[in-house]
Amino acid sequence: MDVPFLDVRSQNKFLKKQSLAAVKRILETGDFILGKDVRLFEQEFAAYCGTRFAVGVNSGTDALFLSLLSLGIGPGDEVLCPVYTYIATALTISYAGATPVFVDIDPRTFTIDPADLERKITRKTKAIIPVHLYGYPADMPAIMRIARRHNLKVIEDAAQAQGARIIRRGGDSRKVGSWGDIGCFSFYPTKNLSGCGDGGMVTTDSKRVYETLLMWRDQGRRGKNRYVHFVRGYNSRLDTIQAALLREKLKHLDAWNEVRRSRARLYSELLSGMEGVVVPGEPDTVGHVFHLYAILLANRDDVHKKLFERGIHTGIVYHLPLHLQPAYKELNHRRGDFPAAEKVAKTVLCLPMHSHLTEQAVRYVAVNVKALAAKKR
Ligand SMILES: Cc1ncc(COP(=O)(O)O)c(C=O)c1O
Repeated sequence: MDVPFLDVRSQNKFLKKQSLAAVKRILETGDFILGKDVRLFEQEFAAYCGTRFAVGVNSGTDALFLSLLSLGIGPGDEVLCPVYTYIATALTISYAGATPVFVDIDPRTFTIDPADLERKITRKTKAIIPVHLYGYPADMPAIMRIARRHNLKVIEDAAQAQGARIIRRGGDSRKVGSWGDIGCFSFYPTKNLSGCGDGGMVTTDSKRVYETLLMWRDQGRRGKNRYVHFVRGYNSRLDTIQAALLREKLKHLDAWNEVRRSRARLYSELLSGMEGVVVPGEPDTVGHVFHLYAILLANRDDVHKKLFERGIHTGIVYHLPLHLQPAYKELNHRRGDFPAAEKVAKTVLCLPMHSHLTEQAVRYVAVNVKALAAKKR
């Protein structure tokens, strides 16, 4: 049995009729740039996340970058982010001219460690970018308390976590992207809500941030006059065709996330209790959306290789924390500076996960992981 790590085709196959109709409609109207579907998708996505506004941009990277600009963050400022994330989180801080300051993670959740976060605050710190890695929401209540205490802005990197929630006492819940000052999303084709190309979204409750972002993403324009430019903005618009396709997919996001959650539960049921294997936890304060299903494994490299030989494709996401990336060598970090992240990077293995993964595939993967993980230690 061949089990791919991800699947970027099944959702499109499932929605083929609606998607082709949407593309046809836009081809016929020619409403390609900041068209009606962009406006509608922004409204629908804001409503889905529980924020007042949303702004479509051309990638998750630009969502973060333009958010930093809209908060006035730039040279001389420090921005805290987890040391264990996709590099785009930190790159955007650098693009803005600010300095990324890395924070270790909680190895049980793979998200920023609030205790280390508070230790890293200096007089130059202006903002925090927590990342909801693999679809697991960062500890937003704790992060927001710290941010308020130190007067810092919070930009959530929710690129991997569309639909993830934090459940509060009493049972009501709030989605990621609605906790901080700003939430940033990616619609890269492998994401839980995935475009057919690049795309991103910024969510916020602030009218000021919203209006500023509209300028930054559209070459500094504001209002109806096409040739007055208020800032030296960028061309970072979400395409109308992408927005139309994403509107169709948004209707199914919760159901698709439920499939991921149920496959994750099955993996955990089959793999928990094994010596040398740590499965992801999900306390009842968290609505995880399992963008990735990540386990920790003592003999990770060996298992990864042997699974591949058996047709099971797994991912080492990520083998190098940001402080060890060549791109950030000028920050002068050393191995050992972020022990939790380094340990996770050495042992993490992401098993096949997507919205169309079958139970049969999960069972097949789990049997093989079990056999291989038990072999050598
Ligand atoms: C955590 C995180 N942040 C930011 C990004 C950047 O998103 P994009 O690829 O849409 O630019 C990604 C995408 O992989 C990501 O996983």
